[in-house]
Amino acid sequence: MKHTVTTAIKQKSEGDKLIMLTVYDYSTAKLMDEAGVELLLVGDSLGNTILGYPDTLSVTMEDMIHHSAAVARGVENALVVTDMPFMSYQSSVYDAVINAGRLVKEGRGQAVKLEGGRLFCPHIKAITEAQIPVMAHLGLTPQSVNALGGFKVQGKDEDGAKNLIDDALAVQAAGAFALVLECVPTELAALVTSLLSIPTIGIGAGAGTDGQVLVYQDMLAMYGGKSPKFAKVFAEVGPLMQEGFRAFIEETKSGAFPDEAHSFAIDPGVMAAARAYADSK
Ligand code: KIV
Repeated sequence: MKHTVTTAIKQKSEGDKLIMLTVYDYSTAKLMDEAGVELLLVGDSLGNTILGYPDTLSVTMEDMIHHSAAVARGVENALVVTDMPFMSYQSSVYDAVINAGRLVKEGRGQAVKLEGGRLFCPHIKAITEAQIPVMAHLGLTPQSVNALGGFKVQGKDEDGAKNLIDDALAVQAAGAFALVLECVPTELAALVTSLLSIPTIGIGAGAGTDGQVLVYQDMLAMYGGKSPKFAKVFAEVGPLMQEGFRAFIEETKSGAFPDEAHSFAIDPGVMAAARAYADSK
């Protein structure tokens, strides 16, 4: 089944949980799509997971376009949502529309995601009017790490909780088709979810949202060391990859690899001629 913004909204009304994972390349996108992941988020978290930055602030439009296009080539059924990187939309509504357009035209995303609430409603409205679906993102918004004073759970005090509610209602009214809630207390995320007709997709926001998203390196134990509290490991792929790397080292050093099964034979006559030719040199 082909997943679209329409099916995402229908899933909420039917109580069918939305499944989203981050992804940044063709072959992993293909695996996820074939496994049935419904939404593939080309997250600007690629700044951390792929490019090794400490945060997402250095990620460029070119980075996002490059990875989004690779993901899109691997997908048949999932909806590809591409993140708008830091300063690709904060500067103006005009920049927001132009850059959202590039993520669709060049990056082949089918929707874009941007971080922020009421302040960015004019941007959400303008992008949506340009016929590009927008996924909003509230709670912990990593592009605001410096303004927030770190990566912290959001909406824990009364003002924060009320702000989150107002922002969620505002982004829905501006035209967002879905909303990511990151690092929000479970009950507050469930309350926001109950107030909205668009689906919420939680990451560190408890079980009361309409769907869940994880960074795939976290859920496959590929990220080494520090993972956030909410990042459950579903398969120990990282250690399995290292096992494979070590076996390759061992067998290559010992000469066990490559064996005949993994090598190509040559006709003895051709080889004799090649030897005679080499001897003449
Ligand atoms: O960039 C990203 O990976 C995200 C998810 C954390 C939702 O925005």
